[in-house]
Amino acid sequence: MTKSIGILTAGGDSPGLNSAIRALGKTAQELYGMEVIGFRDGFRGLMENRTIRLKSENLSGILTIGGTILGTSRDKPHRMPIGGQVMDMRDVMVDNYHKHHLDALVCLGGGGTQKNAYRLMQKGINVITLPKTIDNDVGGTDVTFGFDTALGIATEAIDRLHSTAHSHHRIIVVEIMGHNAGWLALGAGIAGGADVILIPEIPYDVKVVAQAIRQRSRAGKNFSIVAVSEGAMSLDDAKILRRAREKVEKAENKEARKKAKTKLAELEKQHVGNTLRLTNRLEELTGLESRLTILGHLQRGGTPSAADRLLASRLGTACAHFISEGKFGVMVAARGDGAEAVPLDQVVGRRKTVPLDHPWIVSARGVGTCLGD
Ligand code: F6P
Repeated sequence: MTKSIGILTAGGDSPGLNSAIRALGKTAQELYGMEVIGFRDGFRGLMENRTIRLKSENLSGILTIGGTILGTSRDKPHRMPIGGQVMDMRDVMVDNYHKHHLDALVCLGGGGTQKNAYRLMQKGINVITLPKTIDNDVGGTDVTFGFDTALGIATEAIDRLHSTAHSHHRIIVVEIMGHNAGWLALGAGIAGGADVILIPEIPYDVKVVAQAIRQRSRAGKNFSIVAVSEGAMSLDDAKILRRAREKVEKAENKEARKKAKTKLAELEKQHVGNTLRLTNRLEELTGLESRLTILGHLQRGGTPSAADRLLASRLGTACAHFISEGKFGVMVAARGDGAEAVPLDQVVGRRKTVPLDHPWIVSARGVGTCLGD
């Protein structure tokens, strides 16, 4: 019997999504004769039953295009904002899945999407997921697609900032995405030869950073590039946030939990603008003129790199194979040159951060990069 599958992309977009949709769609249709539809704008499209038929003509010419032809959103199935209220819409999504007589729902996304897919799995949907995000922070997979492209963009930015920092004898601080994981800042910082790299996994002491920069000046290098992950924080801020998180975890009742969560959200909000404060503080402490560049969404836009196209294509193809074998409730993880079906309960809630003994950390220290500790 012909199988039918639905595909959606959720969370922040990421280069390589279209390459994955193409590989999955073409393999599913051409090798297995499956019918393929796409839901628009992530889980919201599944709830609102907004679909697009993915025939071979829609799947051609998209390999190299950035973003996602399906659209995306950050909506969560169990907490959907609707007309000023937040509602659990999982049952409506299950109904729409059955309306289309689907045999599987493929969700392409990062950590949040893995969780949301898992929530739908618990409601009886045959879900299978693919790991995408520029942050590279999904557990259970060697790597996520989108990361390599963003790494290239951030590295090129650091290369370009070098010449202007050098000409003006300035400190240039560059803020790099990555949410609460330091992969992108660390990778681009090493590849671009940043003098200081600050990541969330290693809380920093601003005085140590200033000292490293002053030491460079004394050695005749009166400019510095400081690569800062958006989630990086000082030792003091890290301590305050850790305590606030513990309070949420240890809250004894609903009321206390709500209060602790509000406090935590306030503290997290204060983190915005942190890199600007760091830039100003470094100027004060070193006497060197300092400038801040925030790379922001530039890192997520545009053409996927060759490595991301390859990764997304092979995971997309493997996904079609797994569906044909009836393997559900799994993420199609990258493992070496191949792909592995990892049960979703081993992925959910396991954010992959940079281990402190990771070879990249060892290498950064080896070449004399200051990591702020
Ligand atoms: O998860 C990808 C990511 O780009 C993070 O690096 C960043 O913190 C976040 O998304 C930004 O989200 P938004 O596009 O919703 O502002």
